[in-house]
Amino acid sequence: MLNRIYWTYPGYFRSSIANWLHCKRSPFRSLNRFNVVSSGLFIVLTIICGYIYLYEAVPPLTLEENTINNSQDSNGVCDLYDGTWVLDETYPLYNASQCPFAETSFNCLANGRKDKGYLKWRWKPNNCDIPRFNVGVILEKLRGKRIVFVGDSLSRTQWESMICLLMTGVEDKTSVYEVNGNKITKKIRYLGVRFQSYNFTIEFYRSVFLVKIGSVPKRSPKRVRSTIKLDELDSISSKWIDSDILVFNTGHWWNRAKLFEMGCYFKVGGRLKLGMSTMSAYTTALQTWASWVENMVDTDRTRVFFRTFEGSHWSGPNGHTCKVTEKPMYNSKMEYRSHFSEIIKRVVKNMSVPVDTMYVTPMGSYRSDAHVGTWSDNPTVPDCSHWCLPGVPDAWNQILFSYL
Ligand SMILES: *[C@@H]1O[C@H](CO)[C@@H](O)[C@H](O)[C@H]1NC(C)=O
Ligand SMILES: *[C@@H]1O[C@H](CO)[C@@H](O)[C@H](O)[C@H]1NC(C)=O
Ligand SMILES: *[C@@H]1O[C@H](CO)[C@@H](O)[C@H](O)[C@H]1NC(C)=O
Ligand SMILES: *[C@@H]1O[C@H](CO)[C@@H](O)[C@H](O)[C@H]1NC(C)=O
Repeated sequence: MLNRIYWTYPGYFRSSIANWLHCKRSPFRSLNRFNVVSSGLFIVLTIICGYIYLYEAVPPLTLEENTINNSQDSNGVCDLYDGTWVLDETYPLYNASQCPFAETSFNCLANGRKDKGYLKWRWKPNNCDIPRFNVGVILEKLRGKRIVFVGDSLSRTQWESMICLLMTGVEDKTSVYEVNGNKITKKIRYLGVRFQSYNFTIEFYRSVFLVKIGSVPKRSPKRVRSTIKLDELDSISSKWIDSDILVFNTGHWWNRAKLFEMGCYFKVGGRLKLGMSTMSAYTTALQTWASWVENMVDTDRTRVFFRTFEGSHWSGPNGHTCKVTEKPMYNSKMEYRSHFSEIIKRVVKNMSVPVDTMYVTPMGSYRSDAHVGTWSDNPTVPDCSHWCLPGVPDAWNQILFSYL
């Protein structure tokens, strides 16, 4: 039994620091020029820095427990995101070992996971049903379309899951291929898989913040090694526009370990915002994203979705323990909230064009049994943040298909 769930991603940070892409200037670069003057400066900066850290503390990312309220609103409208996980013997929906687009680190069975109960859960909204996955019907619906996922590794997982689900309906597996022949890696910026016989592509753009990585203004403090321009969308954003289905996420990189500790600070209007909190920066970035969608995307053609934050299941006194359970942590009295997800909901609700929030935060919160744990390609780094495939991301895609 997990006594505490942490809403943070410490293990994820640790394993991904090596993958830090954007702020890639070596943190040790300054050691080359280390001399008495700079070491003195360094000490002063460290003191100032520590002071600033204290006062720009990120809001505590703790879980708030809430009594679940009924999913049906007064008009009897179904809430797809309020439900339970039910056992289904027909699950899982695919075998990751037969899907070349399920990355090795998410294929838990192939990496030695022995218990198989975690593969058998289907998401069931309380007051309605998600249509059974009928691969033939979905493949036809997607004919001629362009589906684009944008975000971090959780977005890549959904991309992989969608391809694997759909490949179960394709006889000639060689007719499904990555357009540039590229392999899936953690840092790859673009992947596009084409379903030749159905004339559609499912693409992934890695953009962990959605906004642009900027330069360091002159006369910035030494600790500033790169910046995030909160008022400008990622430079590859023009590639996302001309699509039929556009699915975004961001959130897991908006924390001290991936930002300030890597020398990454925020910039608005060309000016450094050293004291800005991650939550307020996150809100600003999402508003930039929202006005980009409003101005650049033809929402008559493109169906836009924003998927909410995924809680992790780190436990223990420092949140460094990853204990994957055999069964979902099922307690119908609990629902989990995240500050990120609440901000997403608020910003999307405020938009002048139709965008759907995929509020997957509560459903994932039950699945302490569905994380990668030590069954990845690197068992020495436990992972209580990412999900095994097949698994939870398949449910996100089934919900997505139900909108089509
Ligand atoms: C559930 O929502 C309804 C309407 O929004 C409200 O009247 C009711 O008090 C809520 N129940 C609980 C237990 O929060
Ligand atoms: C999945 O496929 C692999 C390779 O074809 C096979 O060895 C394995 O038994 C399959 N696993 C399941 C659970 O069917
Ligand atoms: C494939 O889809 C594109 C985009 O919808 C369309 O323009 C093209 O005619 C289709 N090609 C075939 C061979 O159906
Ligand atoms: C909602 O929109 C208004 C007007 O465009 C803006 O001033 C406000 O900041 C927005 N609120 C959020 C939460 O995005």
